[in-house]
Amino acid sequence: MSDTAILEIKGEKHEFPLIVGTENEIGIDIKTLRGATLGVTTIDPGYKNTGSCQSGITFLDGEKGILRYRGYAIEDLADKADFLEVAYLLIFGDLPSKDQLIKFHADIKTESVVDDDVKKILDAFPKSAHPMGVLSSLTSALTAFNPTSVNVDSEEDMYKSVVKILGKFPVLVAWTMRKKKGLPLNYGSNSLNYVENVLKMMFEKPNEEYVQNPILVNALDKLLILHADHEQNCSTSTVRIVGSSHAGLFASLSAGISALWGPLHGGANQAVLEMLEAIKDDGGDTKKYMGKAKDKQDPFRLMGFGHRVYKNFDPRAKIIKVAADEVLSDLGVEDPILDIAKGLEKEALQDEYFVKRKLYPNVDFYSGIIYRAMGIPTEMFTVMFALGRLPGWIAQWREMRLRKEPIGRPRQIYTGENYRAFKTIDKR
Ligand code: ACO
Repeated sequence: MSDTAILEIKGEKHEFPLIVGTENEIGIDIKTLRGATLGVTTIDPGYKNTGSCQSGITFLDGEKGILRYRGYAIEDLADKADFLEVAYLLIFGDLPSKDQLIKFHADIKTESVVDDDVKKILDAFPKSAHPMGVLSSLTSALTAFNPTSVNVDSEEDMYKSVVKILGKFPVLVAWTMRKKKGLPLNYGSNSLNYVENVLKMMFEKPNEEYVQNPILVNALDKLLILHADHEQNCSTSTVRIVGSSHAGLFASLSAGISALWGPLHGGANQAVLEMLEAIKDDGGDTKKYMGKAKDKQDPFRLMGFGHRVYKNFDPRAKIIKVAADEVLSDLGVEDPILDIAKGLEKEALQDEYFVKRKLYPNVDFYSGIIYRAMGIPTEMFTVMFALGRLPGWIAQWREMRLRKEPIGRPRQIYTGENYRAFKTIDKR
């Protein structure tokens, strides 16, 4: 096989090298395209065919339904690792040894206090504010409380900023929910593991002793692992592109949180639950909503179905589906919303429209059901996604800086007016 691609433009042939990844994915390296062709560019709305970087973090094959972090199968990680081990793996490239993990956790705990003045910022938000807006703002505000920018050439400096954000972010997540619920702001306990601590910070009541529920700890651990990275999706690309201007880690993460908020991305888990509620309130007729989803005149889409990359069952959705069944039966939850979800899933998997377009339930279809059973308010679902995605964003930001990637700056094809002479206001 030739290791170049030939592009013929207006009768002139141009040759470009091929880049082959470790899983034999092939990319055409068009770095020299504009120079060689005197300004010809490529157009690819939504970047459906465009690779923005080479990355050694996450591999996914949407056709085969494969997802691996640093070479490890998501199924093994969800089954055998905990969230902090996965975070370490994603960020630093290898599973930690026992000593490395103990040190990593100890360093994170040392950083798990947020400046008390952050409470004043939180206080200024109305209770009605969407938690994703609050989280994005508080993450950005951390920059003000930690003003020295990271020296990316120093491993020690990089490490410090990584443990700092891993320590402080869960506090911001918990405070965001506590603000919404009118609960006093608290801190966790350094005697707990990372995920246990998250749950304690979120759910502890001022007048009751907090008791851990291992079923919830296990389910949340799995959910966070499954969300921890997903290569160059919308929010991760945002983190990389913002970071590529050498904006700091916290500012880049804050931008990633905003990107995740949208209902076509991380906001889908909230949108799924809202859709299921609406179907229930409308009498629970799933067939009616299947019809609406297929009607091209109707803007309604079946939230939680379809994926830009997976054209097969999302491997994360398979694991989460089992976890959702376990959590609901362990907690003894009977929920009409779940029956509607199961009905929609069954119908969609047999429906020609969905089968033909390879629209399978995605990870968000089931995650919201688990969060709801855990007692997490619907508006907080995307915040939980952000907590899970944090290690992936950090890993991608770190990789981008270590590889000294250039500033992200796409091109365009201009389709506006040609030159026009300026008209003074009395002539318009
Ligand atoms: N319901 C009904 N029809 C759908 C759906 C859906 N959920 N998703 C895609 N389609 C249809 C489209 O109308 C289109 O049909 P056409 O070929 O007849 O025009 C076809 O399937 C392809 O859809 P696109 O929008 O082109 O696919 P794209 O890759 O751009 O979008 C996306 C993927 C955004 C996830 C889309 O499937 C969607 O909107 N799903 C619902 C929202 C959702 O669940 N998002 C979560 C994604 S997972 C995550 O971010 C973690």
